[in-house]
Amino acid sequence: MRVSLDEAVARLKNGEVVAIPTETVYGLAADASNDAALRQVYAVKQRPADNPLIVHIADANQVRNLAAEFPPLAQKLAQAFWPGPFTLVLPAKASVSKIVCSNQPTVALRVPNHPVALRLLKESGLALAAPSANKFTQLSPTTAAHVSAGLGEQIAVLDGGACRVGIESTIVSVNGDNWRLLRRGMISEAAIEVVAGKPALENQHNLTDDLPKVPGQHLLHYSPKTPIKLFESRAALVSFAKTSSQKCAALLVGEIGNSDKLPSCNHINLPDNAEQFAERLYSSLHALDGLGVELLLVEVPPNVPEWLAILDRLSRAAHPK
Ligand code: TXA
Ligand code: MG
Repeated sequence: MRVSLDEAVARLKNGEVVAIPTETVYGLAADASNDAALRQVYAVKQRPADNPLIVHIADANQVRNLAAEFPPLAQKLAQAFWPGPFTLVLPAKASVSKIVCSNQPTVALRVPNHPVALRLLKESGLALAAPSANKFTQLSPTTAAHVSAGLGEQIAVLDGGACRVGIESTIVSVNGDNWRLLRRGMISEAAIEVVAGKPALENQHNLTDDLPKVPGQHLLHYSPKTPIKLFESRAALVSFAKTSSQKCAALLVGEIGNSDKLPSCNHINLPDNAEQFAERLYSSLHALDGLGVELLLVEVPPNVPEWLAILDRLSRAAHPK
């Protein structure tokens, strides 16, 4: 069910959940200070309680309401990447709901770069906990229609159009003057390194300091219902499609040449450009998933820095169920 901005504000203040647009994917939002509302987020998503939520705020001035520390390195990163597809994990204030943090000592914060989300945050005056607005392990929604199809018509959705970034934010934890990359996104490790002035601490297993856990990064994630098979080359995908007895559909990187004709196989070819590919990745998978085929064939993009976040999502989506 679609709701207006005013109605979304009223519902959120009343402790209800509302699906909201951001530039990455739609989020299922709740007042981050209302435990009953937060429990509803977990219930609607069927999400395990050990998987903490990202809190969305209107601007960096609100960090101090939620984080116990806002070290200079984190301030620099916030200045460079907010509003934007970038999440900072910082030590949490004791007052932050244990449900938001899943009992961890940290809180994840993000200022989204979406005009409707920013108006909602400002007009409600709330900090909004919002995981992606999909059932646990399923594909994230990038349109209001995806949200309703995945969570049901009874969920209130504030429609802000199609998401422009298309995959979830980059997540970085900052501890003092060190940082770690917890989840890849379209803000690249290299771009963060330039602003930070130093590389990420590696997630070495023998480190004994207070390594933040990376909850929620389950291997089986971001999955359509149809199984996915990945192909390192166009030629391998085409020859599989020609001989397969299964009904297939395909997602391709770049144009289709004469030699790669795919007989009786629906396909989408996305641009050979990481930003444009990411923007349409989930909506393409949603569309191919709706065809009722037995197998989705996906051509894997090049293994180079600007495609790494996309490779991460594709390999998770293809993980066997
Ligand atoms: O782009 C995005 O980040 C979207 C939009 C809606 O903002 N949100 C999103 O939320 O992707 P979700 O719930 O699908 O992913 C949140 C992830 C968790 O799975 C976990 O890996 C990490 O954020 N996270 C949240 N709180 C954390 C914390 N306190 N410490 C470490 N990781 C945390
Ligand atoms: Mg998610």
